[in-house]
Amino acid sequence: MVQGFDGKVALVTGAATGIGRQTALALAAAGARVVLADIVRQAGEESAHAVEVAGGRAMFVPGDIASGDDVARIVKAAVDAYGRLDCAFNNAGIAPRGAAIVDMAEADWDRTIAINLKGVWWCMKHECAQMLAQGGGGTIVNTASIMGVVSGPGLAAYSASKAGVVGLTRSVALDYARQGIRVNAVCPGGIGNTAITDDPANRADMEELAQMTPMGRLGCPQDIADTVLWLLSPQSGFVTGQSIVVDGGFTAW
Ligand SMILES: NC(=O)c1ccc[n+]([C@@H]2O[C@H](COP(=O)([O-])OP(=O)(O)OC[C@H]3O[C@@H](n4cnc5c(N)ncnc54)[C@H](O)[C@@H]3O)[C@@H](O)[C@H]2O)c1
Repeated sequence: MVQGFDGKVALVTGAATGIGRQTALALAAAGARVVLADIVRQAGEESAHAVEVAGGRAMFVPGDIASGDDVARIVKAAVDAYGRLDCAFNNAGIAPRGAAIVDMAEADWDRTIAINLKGVWWCMKHECAQMLAQGGGGTIVNTASIMGVVSGPGLAAYSASKAGVVGLTRSVALDYARQGIRVNAVCPGGIGNTAITDDPANRADMEELAQMTPMGRLGCPQDIADTVLWLLSPQSGFVTGQSIVVDGGFTAW
């Protein structure tokens, strides 16, 4: 069991479903007070309720991470409720329908970059400001993807956004390494039981991804939550600026 979260305040974006929801539950079980943020209100409130039913402390804040004003409001709500911010998991993201670049609409490119890349930039901008105002220290994990490390046809926007998260993670880690703020990313391979992967439009791709994965299966949200908790905890205390791949061996080929 990862330790070091007693009394800590953790923000999780994209916490209504999938990887974010599971990580919020795991953080609360490890002792953190958790602020769940998501653009989807009902499922977000249900996830916060699930944390409390399991004995944790949690609150839900609705918001769109593509909006700087919304992200500022989410961070302020966390501090107003719990007094500080120690950990953040910037996980909200979208996976647009794949299209070769000639056929890709500019609006799909813009929306993907606005949420998956600039959204993480907004989150870290406001989270780091709060952590510095507290005197420094803190841990941040961003969700990238194996598609930010390798790629595939039709994934120009998604792959560029996630590769951007890998670079953004390195740079912000270097901005504040001396202030004790550690910043890392997790790069999931194919993960089942999430809204993205359960979408019928993605089912065939996910089955193919499971077959292509050396371990012969998709991962589950807990596989990612376990890595994220370690990266957010003092047990990874000398790790910063890294993007950790969790993919059942997919990128080892
Ligand atoms: N599932 C996979 O196979 C896989 C693989 C690699 C990376 N990822 C990444 O993992 C992260 C979590 O995805 P998931 O698989 O759990 O899917 P998911 O759809 O279950 O979770 C994503 C969450 O982000 C929220 N969200 C989307 N846009 C938002 C916005 N603008 N503001 C606030 N919240 C928003 C959604 O409402 C949803 O709750 C994403 O960044 C995704 O790109 C997933």
